[in-house]
Amino acid sequence: MDNEHGSELGTQEYWESSYNREIKNYKSHGDVGEIWFDEDSQQRVIYWLLKQEEITKEAKVLDLGCGNGMFLVGLANEGFGQLTGVDYSPKAVELAQHIAQDNKLDISYKVADLTQPQDELGTFDVVHDKGTYDAVSLCPDSPKEKRALYLATVEKLLRTADSLFVITSCNWTEDELEQSFAEKFVKYHSIPTPTFKFGGKVGNVVTSVVFKKL
Ligand SMILES: C[S@@+](CC[C@H](N)C(=O)[O-])C[C@H]1O[C@@H](n2cnc3c(N)ncnc32)[C@H](O)[C@@H]1O
Repeated sequence: MDNEHGSELGTQEYWESSYNREIKNYKSHGDVGEIWFDEDSQQRVIYWLLKQEEITKEAKVLDLGCGNGMFLVGLANEGFGQLTGVDYSPKAVELAQHIAQDNKLDISYKVADLTQPQDELGTFDVVHDKGTYDAVSLCPDSPKEKRALYLATVEKLLRTADSLFVITSCNWTEDELEQSFAEKFVKYHSIPTPTFKFGGKVGNVVTSVVFKKL
């Protein structure tokens, strides 16, 4: 993803038609669809959460822009019991609900646009984002404003000053995330991700960072 220009990946229509296709695939041959930035990036976050003593299996976890919900399925399989996923694409929510039901997992899903206030969702101990802030950043219409609205929503969803906002991005570097979150969040931890070397410089394909409220 490229963070300088709007793209169809920043529109609700794109995601709705993409999940419409994925539901059909799922119903016809059980394919759950795309796991963004591959399964390893999801597993790295799940392992990290499992290692945190203060995060119990009773922690309330919210997945922002949950897509097919496979991150929450991963947590449910590890024994987490209070899981919620939201997405602004009703078709994503429908797909995620089918997958959870077929796997007999108790996960709650709701349709919600995270660039709008979401006070009725409640508050959470862990708020997770993989690829959603990236998608919001690609919105062809006022992306900067949309990012600010998104971050204001996230801030309100965190239950306490110790609640965690865990974000995985392929659009922004860790430094860029730290800078653009600086008014609301402070970096708590960086989850190591694979690096590559190009032209003598070392970079990361994806970045996973944990923030807390300021
Ligand atoms: C790159 S996909 C990532 C999906 C999922 N998190 C994953 O890792 O597989 C981005 C997701 O964010 C959702 N999304 C984008 N903007 C959103 C918004 N403003 N509110 C809620 N969901 C949004 C899209 O519908 C899509 O499911």
